[in-house]
Amino acid sequence: MKIKVYPTSELQSKAAAQIIADQIRTKPDTAVCLATGDSPFGTYRELVRMVKDSHIDCSRLRVFGLDEWVGIPPDNTGSCHHYLHENFIGPLGIGHDQVHLFDGLSKDLSGECSRMTEAIRHAGGIDIMIVGIGMNGHIGFNEPGVDVNLWAHAIELDEITKTVGQKYFQSATPLSKGITQGFQQVFAARTLMLLAHGKKKASIIHQTAEAPIGIAIPSTLLRQHKNSLIMLDEEAAGELAPSLRN
Ligand code: F6R
Repeated sequence: MKIKVYPTSELQSKAAAQIIADQIRTKPDTAVCLATGDSPFGTYRELVRMVKDSHIDCSRLRVFGLDEWVGIPPDNTGSCHHYLHENFIGPLGIGHDQVHLFDGLSKDLSGECSRMTEAIRHAGGIDIMIVGIGMNGHIGFNEPGVDVNLWAHAIELDEITKTVGQKYFQSATPLSKGITQGFQQVFAARTLMLLAHGKKKASIIHQTAEAPIGIAIPSTLLRQHKNSLIMLDEEAAGELAPSLRN
């Protein structure tokens, strides 16, 4: 696991967007798996700018969602579906047939998970997976205690996730389950990029880098990934041992 620290979140976003843009330029049919939320917001905005300015061809890009809230309709502004359409798929003009997102309203969640895992297998695996980190160390909705042997799966959400998740919704929204790519998919991603900024992430980033590796803090498992890169701003890196920064 490599850790890179940038002076500001703007510079962190630009650097992350540059890596994704270069990846798409090198391999136009790249398969990306995308988190939503505050962490990748600036990166997606920068990427859209780079794609437009440099005329990068996204017509063969394959887009996979990292996760979704179960029971939340796609047109709810708090849904991962809505976020990705607003901030990535729409602005980049990605076609419907290039996109695979979880259906949080599916009556057959296990069928939905199999459909997703099969679509990724068919695409030849994920080239680059962009994730954020929850205050409890979750990756996607792989909550503390998760079974690391799972591919896509539905999961009961941790209390912290239900509480913190309210920030995405316009009014109080009962959240109970999520549907997510599992750790098998995380480990299989050829590149794994974790983005975090702001002081409130400093403690969990410190634990990710230094706590014992295990499911109590799922993000610690990224230390076992063959090609993982953590991109931070100074604030999120604030509790890291100096020897871990570069
Ligand atoms: C969202 C997701 C979550 C978030 C995490 C951090 O698709 O996968 O794991 O990345 O909860 O959220 P933010 O970035 O809003 O702090």
